[in-house]
Amino acid sequence: MSARTVCVTRRPPGDWEARLRAAGFNVRVPEAPQDRPLAREAFLDAIAGCDAVIGMITDRWDTEAFDRAGPKLRIIANYGVGYNNIDIEEANRRGIAVTNTPDVLTDATADIAWGLLLASARRFGEGERSLRAGGFRGWGPSDYLGVDLAGQTLGIIGPGRIGTAIARRSRGWDMRIVYTHKDPKPAFEQATGAQRLPLDELLATSDFVSLSCPLTPETRHLIGARELSLMKPTAVLVNTARGPVVDEEALVEALRERRIFAAGLDVYEREPELAPGLAGLDNAVLLPHVGSATFRTRETMARIVVDNVLALFDGRRPPTLVNEPAG
Ligand code: DGY
Repeated sequence: MSARTVCVTRRPPGDWEARLRAAGFNVRVPEAPQDRPLAREAFLDAIAGCDAVIGMITDRWDTEAFDRAGPKLRIIANYGVGYNNIDIEEANRRGIAVTNTPDVLTDATADIAWGLLLASARRFGEGERSLRAGGFRGWGPSDYLGVDLAGQTLGIIGPGRIGTAIARRSRGWDMRIVYTHKDPKPAFEQATGAQRLPLDELLATSDFVSLSCPLTPETRHLIGARELSLMKPTAVLVNTARGPVVDEEALVEALRERRIFAAGLDVYEREPELAPGLAGLDNAVLLPHVGSATFRTRETMARIVVDNVLALFDGRRPPTLVNEPAG
């Protein structure tokens, strides 16, 4: 039998290529520029005829993509924990396994949430930009006043692994933790002392609201104009989940009108584009989707995607399978 082909839509760091070749796979990486996501046509060309795809969270897997990949495709190993970029039902129907990279990026992402929280509360971005532009004239009693963290209430929307890690990090600030979810989460409550609240109540009582939920049809625009209007004028919103969980235009409006104090964002509705006006707002701290971007995390993510591919072709269950492929 000829060697199986693994297509990798963009090079991650780490030893993934050597491991795949040592296991006898052909490895195909598109020639396209590796400093940005593949354009749609280049992506469709890259995946054609592969047995496995190691893909990025920026690749959109819809019917067209599955058709172009063709009948040999057995697994999509998604290089990320979120897999809203993949039509899972279509993968199930076609008997294609889908895997992700959970756990390994929990701490790195929780760190970014806290970085955003602190930077937004204490206006790091504004201060740094002004200083670099020569605006620092010496200490001032009313300069860059922010909001306190100690003893405040942190609302977690998405009480999973990353939400738990974010909540745990609040211990140093003696914060009260509240969360929202349709079902009680006893493990989360036990780990963090959190109290479950309906969404509206969480928004009205939290000083900080942190989003770590997956993007699903139910969570798309979970935070819109109405929800933002329920938040305290001193509140900070942090999003390390997925951009479309927030109605970004409504957020720009709320920040512009100072209806909330600030927002810290790592993810955007139409990446890499930002909603008009967002980049000009001083009370928004903006990062370029770097939740999992540490050397160790990204290298371990590359190990996990390869582990999944090797397991599948070895006749074993891929360790981080997220779907139920038919057959
Ligand atoms: C993920 O893995 O889903 C993250 O958003 C990547 O940083």
